Amino acid sequence: MKAVILVGGEGTRLRPLTLSTPKSMVPIVNRPFLEHMINYLSRHGIDEIVLAMGYLPDAIQEYFGDGDGYKTSLLYAVEDSPLGTAGAVKNVAGHINDSFFVFNGDVYTDINLTEMLQLHRKSGAKATIALTPVEDPTVYGVVETNDSGRIRRFVEKPKREEVTTNMINAGIYILEPDVLNMIPSGKKFMFEQGVFPTLLNRGEPVYGYESYEYWIDIGTPEKYKKVNDDLLGGASKVEIPGSQTGNGVWVEYGGRVSPEADIEGPVVIGKGCKVDAGAKITGPTIIGPDCFIGQNSAIRSAIIWRNVHIGKRASLAGCILAENVSVGEQARIPHGCVLGHDVVVNNGETLREGTHVWPE
Ligand code: GDD
Ligand code: MG
Repeated sequence: MKAVILVGGEGTRLRPLTLSTPKSMVPIVNRPFLEHMINYLSRHGIDEIVLAMGYLPDAIQEYFGDGDGYKTSLLYAVEDSPLGTAGAVKNVAGHINDSFFVFNGDVYTDINLTEMLQLHRKSGAKATIALTPVEDPTVYGVVETNDSGRIRRFVEKPKREEVTTNMINAGIYILEPDVLNMIPSGKKFMFEQGVFPTLLNRGEPVYGYESYEYWIDIGTPEKYKKVNDDLLGGASKVEIPGSQTGNGVWVEYGGRVSPEADIEGPVVIGKGCKVDAGAKITGPTIIGPDCFIGQNSAIRSAIIWRNVHIGKRASLAGCILAENVSVGEQARIPHGCVLGHDVVVNNGETLREGTHVWPE
């Protein structure tokens, strides 16, 4: 079974994190999001994946290479300019000859793809769309179905008064290959505003596969923080890297934690990190590889990417720091702060809550 993963978006809502890293490569529990996704797909028997890329494609290709070590083959396609969700799939149509999956490349989920495929085959649908319930459907595509699961209406980013159900497009489709004939070549075209409404207008069979498994779109800082917290809390069957050194404390290879540091899980400490005496780290916290956590610093509920330096007696709470950030001694980074790569916070400096700092 083949799949196309859409990883070409600029991830604007996740800036400043996505100014250095494509959204699909942001670390979730110290592994790129896309690595979790590729493993999930291969667990469901998908053995060929085409990555439809646009923004920062090198970061993706350099990490995965020819896919050695993954149980599925990886192919890459780069768009010169963004072709939209459907245009991106049309662009790789040469690889497709049978029913195939399409995935938005920013959704972490345990949706049962095997069962979804069974439903697609049984119903004889042209397209099957995975559906998941959410609290606020206005930022998604709302999908109305009838009693037999057939889709009646698809409205992308509806106004509040247009919302008739809380079931939304979960960003996973199974399509018959002739759906590709509806998509123009070399031109921006969307599933959400183009392909799906047209299929429904033509009376083609389009079905919903309802799922209540874990599902989250990682596309904003709040959601990105939440998926990491959820996984540390056991919401999905993710494999937490490193060996467990205490209750809910995982230290990856080469991590050195002073016996006088105070760590309260769930906390993951990445490869080659050094945590000095008197540091207090409270979960849910994830520290990326090669970080230094200074003496008597206090870190609570933070996500820290690789090669970050935290000075003595600095304090962090509820924040996200991208790679190579340096936090000076006694600096304070409160809730909701998001620091882009290579940001330097001077000694003694205090940021305001919710500050987003652009790279460098
Ligand atoms: N290759 C390529 N080219 N990929 C693209 C392009 C493009 O031009 N535009 C967007 N993508 C990718 C993004 O990288 C992302 O992985 C996916 O397509 C969806 O784009 P988002 O920008 O994240 O869309 P959204 O979250 O607002 O809405 C979509 O996802 C919701 C579920 O999370 C829609 O499909 C909604 O209907 C859906 O409910
Ligand atoms: Mg999204």
